[in-house]
Amino acid sequence: MNARDLRQKYIEFFVSKGHKEFPSSPLIPIDVTGKLDESLLFTGAGMVQFKPYFRGLVEPPHPRLVTCQNCLRTTDIEETGDPWHLTFFQMLGNFSFGDYFKKEAIEFAWEFLTSEKWLNLDKNRICVTVFEQDDEAYGYWEEIWKKESFDPSEKIHRLGEEKNYWPAGAFSSGPPGPCGPCTEIFYRCAPETELTGDFKTDEAAGRWVEIWNLVFLQFEWKGELKDPTKPHLGYRKLGMDPLPKPGVDTGMGLERTAAVLGAKKSVYEIDTFAPIIRTICERAKYAFGTNEEKDKAVRIIADHLRAASFCVADGITPTNTGRGYVLRRIIRRCVFKGQHTLGMQEPFLAQIFPSVIEALGDSHKELIERKETIVSVLNAEETQFRRTIEQGLRRFWNFVEQFKKEMYQPKRKRASYFNLPGKYVFTLYDTYGFPYELTEELAKQHGFRVNYNEFLKYMEKALQRARAASDSGKVFEAEKAFVVSSENAPSFSRFIGYSTMESKATITRVSPEFDKNGLTTGKFRIALDETPFYAEAGGQVGDTGTIECEDFVFIVHDTQKEADIIWHIGEFSDKTNFRGRSQDEITDKLKKSVLSRQVVAKVDAKRRRNIMRNHTATHLLHAALRKTLGAHVAQSGSLVAPDRLRFDFTHSAPLKPEEIDRIEQIVNEKIAETMPVVVHENVSLQEAKSRGAMMLFGEKYGDKVRMIEIPGFSLELCGGTHVENTAEIGLFKIISESSSASGIRRIEAVTGLGAYEWAKKTEEILEKSASLLKTPPEDLPKAIEKLQAQVRQLQREKEQLIASATTPTETESIPVGPVNLYHVMLKTGGAEAGKLTADRLIERDPRGVAVVGVYDEDKVTLFCKVGSSAQKNGLHAGLLLREIARRAGGGGGGNATFAQAGTKDSQKLSQAMDALVDIVKEQIKTQ
Ligand code: SER
Repeated sequence: MNARDLRQKYIEFFVSKGHKEFPSSPLIPIDVTGKLDESLLFTGAGMVQFKPYFRGLVEPPHPRLVTCQNCLRTTDIEETGDPWHLTFFQMLGNFSFGDYFKKEAIEFAWEFLTSEKWLNLDKNRICVTVFEQDDEAYGYWEEIWKKESFDPSEKIHRLGEEKNYWPAGAFSSGPPGPCGPCTEIFYRCAPETELTGDFKTDEAAGRWVEIWNLVFLQFEWKGELKDPTKPHLGYRKLGMDPLPKPGVDTGMGLERTAAVLGAKKSVYEIDTFAPIIRTICERAKYAFGTNEEKDKAVRIIADHLRAASFCVADGITPTNTGRGYVLRRIIRRCVFKGQHTLGMQEPFLAQIFPSVIEALGDSHKELIERKETIVSVLNAEETQFRRTIEQGLRRFWNFVEQFKKEMYQPKRKRASYFNLPGKYVFTLYDTYGFPYELTEELAKQHGFRVNYNEFLKYMEKALQRARAASDSGKVFEAEKAFVVSSENAPSFSRFIGYSTMESKATITRVSPEFDKNGLTTGKFRIALDETPFYAEAGGQVGDTGTIECEDFVFIVHDTQKEADIIWHIGEFSDKTNFRGRSQDEITDKLKKSVLSRQVVAKVDAKRRRNIMRNHTATHLLHAALRKTLGAHVAQSGSLVAPDRLRFDFTHSAPLKPEEIDRIEQIVNEKIAETMPVVVHENVSLQEAKSRGAMMLFGEKYGDKVRMIEIPGFSLELCGGTHVENTAEIGLFKIISESSSASGIRRIEAVTGLGAYEWAKKTEEILEKSASLLKTPPEDLPKAIEKLQAQVRQLQREKEQLIASATTPTETESIPVGPVNLYHVMLKTGGAEAGKLTADRLIERDPRGVAVVGVYDEDKVTLFCKVGSSAQKNGLHAGLLLREIARRAGGGGGGNATFAQAGTKDSQKLSQAMDALVDIVKEQIKTQ
């Protein structure tokens, strides 16, 4: 039985039992309503996306569903690479929402496992466990085993909540969420003769392997953290409410079950791994099975590469926090293993990736659709990490050396010799980006231990600093905000701004901001029952404008959404009456004259129209980028503001000028084609997906979505505001292209009036340049070329002048005792010529003393160079020029060989020069 067959049979079986196949959710835990499950980092079980169904919040499309869910669990990451552990795996599951329960779930499982038509497993090799208090489940199993003529007491084992409750131990200790007792099905991998008879012992020894977990989700576990500042202390139980839709959630690990049923020695031997393992070994020129440590490295790379590929396909990019950090860690671990254990000195991940498609591409089309993105992220991360490793290793050894020196100080105790201080490890991590896990691994390889507790202390301090830094800028602390609400204020604000920018409304809530003395600062947030103001979302900035009535005008500087309330943030134009008030005073005032008032909400329409132009242009740009650069381009961030738009996307290389031209051209063509922008409201997420609409994984989409279509060109899920026709954009101009992060490029562009202003400014620069060069703007390039030619010509002439000025053959020397004095005055050539001349004179004559003067506008600069033999006779360039400068009313100095001086007094200089021979003589004499 291979994994493909098992998957197919499982789905087929449950479809035959009235289930509907439902797609896997992304690894980012987005539930069926499109909401991100904040309690989880990754989807780790089939039921994660279905929580709203079990909780009765949303009606399921069908009471029975069957899925093959992609899962990522990092709790076992240290064990990954041993024969049975994986970080990424697929989980087969059948679900009932308020439909069938324990009896049918157990009967379905039995039939699927043992019927000849399906898996036809040997009943002798099966046994089950049930929760110790679950007599009902026990009873159903008992009936089955009896019917099959087995002794139920040998086939059913009652275990505690650690094994037979889901989540494990949830009965007593949470976490909050749907939970219930479960029954697990085991398959015997060892011959019967090896069994001890004690189920727990045999299970721990791997003789029985769990293949299927049937959970009977019955309760919503309620509780709170014992100490919110110390989440590791766990939860305090407050109760267990029955779930509105109790049901069944089963999970069968596809890879593990396929391996067990196929009598493999490890999960890595099955079909969805084979091509990957083979390709890694080929690349590493390694024969699998010949070295245990290397085998393990190959398995880790295979598992992690699958995990990383799916993470990227689901829209995660490597970063330093949260999901992105897990991805980064996974990729880096692969690279480290490949490089260090398997000796792959060249980047290999992107080359091995096609084998992941070979293994899984038939059932997971996203790997093929997003292959360019995956390859580009893998490449960028691997290259960057290889650099980090190189530097990190050097630093690691420096630290070790330094540490050894410290440790060998006689007074230190030897006991801690093998404990590498947490301070070093933290510096490696924090300053140099060298992952903790790698330091630990490296330390282990070389017989050190890492002082983990000390490392944690440093980490905690750093985290505190980071938190303090990120909190300081907040204007309104949501949890502390003080809100005055009208009676019966609705729990949400209705947004009506797609079709209007001005409307009547009623004020339902006001939230003043207070200073540290408890007095109002003058800043307020106002909520309306309905509003045309767009709250910042999906990259589009919040609207500005006014909220007015006869008695006041409220100026809106920004609009933000918090849960379902749209807040207009700003101040009253009459500041004096609203500032410096105590909580009681302002509450009174707001209740009397603001709350429940009928107002007119007016969006700054000009600004909003600019935003709309930029938003629609962003969609055009996105489509044009994919057309020009390829389908790997995926949006990774955007800003839609009134004056410009910014778009970040996955692409590994800087854009070439011709690519930028092409993109601009495509977008402007679409503008010129005056294409309608069609808005589809209330489309089901399924339909949007099947129409191939572009969406951002990780965005919170509801089950009904809004789609923006520019027919035949662009289709995106989007809640933003758009123009009705592309013609309204006017003009689109890219103004910059740069890198925003590793593997991510950033484009900034302007449209409409923004593009006009950009063109105007550029024109001004052009005109100014043209007038400086006294030429019409169209002749500027020619004029600049002419200017450049002139500069080159002048440069050449200067060089010639210097060359001719510094030909010392014509310079006669004056013998003064044992030295030869050269004295030259240059009219042109500047300081360079002066120095060069002095150099050349002395080059040929070690007995020489050269004094070269250069006229430069209103001053004369003097250079003096003294040859080696003249120096022996007492000549010192510095002293010589100092003396001349003293006489010539200037200043200067230098060393024995070379000196420089200057003066503005040419008359005194000529007197000083007349005395030159004497000054030289003086120096010889004084020797
Ligand atoms: N939720 C259960 C598990 O993950 C069954 O799907 O094991």
